[in-house]
This record gives sequence, C-alpha cells and structure tokens, in this order.
Amino acid sequence: MDDSTLTALMEREHHEVDEAIADFVQGLREGDVRHADLGRATSLLQRHIYIEEAFIFPPLRAKGMLAPILVMEREHGQIWRTLDAVNLEVGSGTAADSVPDRCQQLLHELQVHNDKEEPIIYPQADALLTDSDKDAVRDFIDSGTMPDGWVCAQAANG
Ligand SMILES: [Fe+2]
Ligand SMILES: [Fe+2]
Repeated sequence: MDDSTLTALMEREHHEVDEAIADFVQGLREGDVRHADLGRATSLLQRHIYIEEAFIFPPLRAKGMLAPILVMEREHGQIWRTLDAVNLEVGSGTAADSVPDRCQQLLHELQVHNDKEEPIIYPQADALLTDSDKDAVRDFIDSGTMPDGWVCAQAANG
C-alpha cells in the first residue's frame, strides 16, 4: 500500500483530474469530441469527491470541523452541477460551442476549491484521522469503486 500522506495522495488526484479535463478541452480544440476522455475526467472527478465525502470529511466533522466541511461540500455541489452541465452539453450535441467555456468554468471552480483543500483540509486529515481511517482512504484510492448512482451531498442544492 502507498504510505504517502493523504495530502500528497489527494493533491496527486487533483492534478490527474485537471489534466483529464485539459486533455478533453485540447481534443475539442482539435475538432475531436472525445466522449471517452470526458468520461475519464468525469469518473476521476466524481470518484475523488466520493473519497472526500465518504472517507475524509466524516472524521473531520466528528473532530469539530463543521463549517469548513460544509463549505467544501457546497463547493462540491457546484462543481458536480457544472460537470453535469458539460456532460449534458456534449451529450446533446446542440451546445457544443459552450463546452470549452463550461470546462474553463469547471477548472476555475476546482482551482478555488483545491486552493483551500490542499493547505487546510488535507493537512488536517493527516493530523486528525486515525491510522485505520487513513488506511481506508489509501485502500479506496488503490482499488475502490464509487457506488453506482452516488451523488455528492449538496448536488441538488444549487
Ligand atoms: Fe473536494
Ligand atoms: Fe479534492
């Protein structure tokens, strides 16, 4: 099992998500609407949010980080809806011109969000989670699958 800090593991995921979205936008620019690439970005991002809401946020909330976790979950809700909008626009094929702008919006929302998680939330997770909580995160990153149909806590509260 990877024994890196949660901060390092989760920051790596942020970079993978950003790269997958950027690859998709690059494909659009080259005139190649690659649904498979958007699918990769979508599953990486949704799975990342699942890891946080299922494994990292509950123990932090139990340690008293109520307001910061609520802010993170609200931002997940906005990110989730923007990602849904990109998928809808690509799937319908009727609003293709708006897709790159929508992807830029998504990347911006992620940057604002990650700029709080990386210096604040993840170091707190490394400091406060038990070893077994951390092992659960690492195990899931290695081999876990997000439950079918799972949506983030604030997905519908826009
Ligand atoms: Fe997050
Ligand atoms: Fe994150």
